[in-house]
Amino acid sequence: MTRDTSAIVRSQFGAAAADYATSEVHAKGESLARIVELAAPQTTWHVLDVATGAGHMAAAFAPHVASVVASDITAEMLTEAGKLAASRNLLNMTTAAAEAGSLPFADETFDLVCCRLAAHHFPSLERFVSEAERVLKKRGRFALVDNVAPDRELLPDASNEDLEDVLVAYNAFEKLRDPSHGFAPPPETWVHLLEQQNFSIVAREQFGKEIDFASWVSRMRCAPEVIAVLETTLSDGPPQLREFLAPRRDNDGALHFTLQELLLVADKAA
Ligand SMILES: C[S@@+](CC[C@H](N)C(=O)[O-])C[C@H]1O[C@@H](n2cnc3c(N)ncnc32)[C@H](O)[C@@H]1O
Repeated sequence: MTRDTSAIVRSQFGAAAADYATSEVHAKGESLARIVELAAPQTTWHVLDVATGAGHMAAAFAPHVASVVASDITAEMLTEAGKLAASRNLLNMTTAAAEAGSLPFADETFDLVCCRLAAHHFPSLERFVSEAERVLKKRGRFALVDNVAPDRELLPDASNEDLEDVLVAYNAFEKLRDPSHGFAPPPETWVHLLEQQNFSIVAREQFGKEIDFASWVSRMRCAPEVIAVLETTLSDGPPQLREFLAPRRDNDGALHFTLQELLLVADKAA
């Protein structure tokens, strides 16, 4: 299914671009160093970072490779990515306007296509994977980090129907906070999409990341009534959604919950 979300994405992220430059989750998240390790970059590689946001992932790869193109559909984000490259003197990092489902690059251009914390915004995950495959050289590498919905491993007592319900409830929770959220599937869907496009999975990891509710809603400039509904969902929402998000308050009363990040590395066939 394809949704046209590009105007909503540009408006949401254009306004929030500077916040993403400093966001702890994006600038320092655990997944950043780990995906670089798992992708094992080589000094000869040409890399494309899709939906780079403020450029954190592109900048993490740049010191290890020949070149990195940090691409996004939001102009303000490309400005932030350019500032990050300049501040770290990353002369091999450039920026480019690009939509994930229609990448403006020739076939077999890159050794690595990476994408972190963004694919859940894309109108079609299938088109994105197909475009990544097209612009990758033979035996090129794809590295993904994204939030995922729960699967049976996380909710072992859930029936198939429960899992369907919690998939819908989790995506609705995300979309309420950020109208540009598209769809975050469970991990198996990603594996399936990649295998369908002739990729072989070479690494797969997943971990829970702690989310500070107040900064999570303020980054997306949520209205007070939206914040109230999100907070009520965490306290009184569907039980399996709460089991997945594990809301809790710290000693100062601040609300936290957990999101799941999937890390996948997959190689294109020869
Ligand atoms: C959360 S930010 C990205 C975070 C960044 N990759 C990082 O690791 O810090 C999400 C980005 O996805 C971009 N985006 C959303 N939909 C897109 C699409 N269809 N094509 C390209 N970029 C898109 C937004 O403009 C935004 O900059």
